[in-house]
Amino acid sequence: MATRIRPFRDGDLVAIDAVNRAAFGRADEGQLVAALHTAGCDAFELVAERDARIVAHILFSPVTVEHGDDGRVLGLAPLAVAPGHQRQGIGSALVRAALSTLATGPYRAVVVLGDPDYYQRFGFGPASAAGLHDVYAAGDDFMALALRAGGLSGYRGRVSYAPEFDGLE
Ligand SMILES: CC(C)(COP(=O)(O)OP(=O)(O)OC[C@H]1O[C@@H](n2cnc3c(N)ncnc32)[C@H](O)[C@@H]1OP(=O)(O)O)[C@@H](O)C(=O)NCCC(=O)NCCS
Repeated sequence: MATRIRPFRDGDLVAIDAVNRAAFGRADEGQLVAALHTAGCDAFELVAERDARIVAHILFSPVTVEHGDDGRVLGLAPLAVAPGHQRQGIGSALVRAALSTLATGPYRAVVVLGDPDYYQRFGFGPASAAGLHDVYAAGDDFMALALRAGGLSGYRGRVSYAPEFDGLE
């Protein structure tokens, strides 16, 4: 079945909410996406469609770096694939499409909090290697990726997500 990846469009939020609810089994991530939109923190976003229906979604929002912050680091979250479409390469395709587009723009690096077994295939490594840590004490589950050579240089310390993430577990 063909999968089409495209940028976010007005009118997508209801379907994106449904995908996040189904993937995470709770309302929090869908509400987070809506809140990030309201706050203007949806820096980059893609959806994947099958048969013209949204089945997956990825969002990047700006993060703040304790030292060296220049507004050019993004946090990847959330990433959701509807349960009936998981493990078919759609999540990977979304991550790869997003990272390759971001690599051509102004951003220098991306951080993510997730399973290293999943994210290391895209080039993410422990953020601690770049002197960065997250506010959730996630250890090696907190990862970073330079979008270009030297993309992580000059940053150090705590990385904070937008306030809309506060309270998300
Ligand atoms: C995690 C998720 C985004 C992956 O998307 P997907 O389209 O199902 O995954 P893909 O088909 O691209 O990749 C499949 C590979 O990822 C692995 N994988 C899938 N989910 C994984 C997870 N939660 N942890 C580790 N590895 C995972 C599979 O084992 C498979 O590995 P293989 O290629 O070596 O066999 C999707 O399963 C999902 O939405 N899960 C629920 C929400 C969630 O946990 N989101 C991530 C938040 S960080």
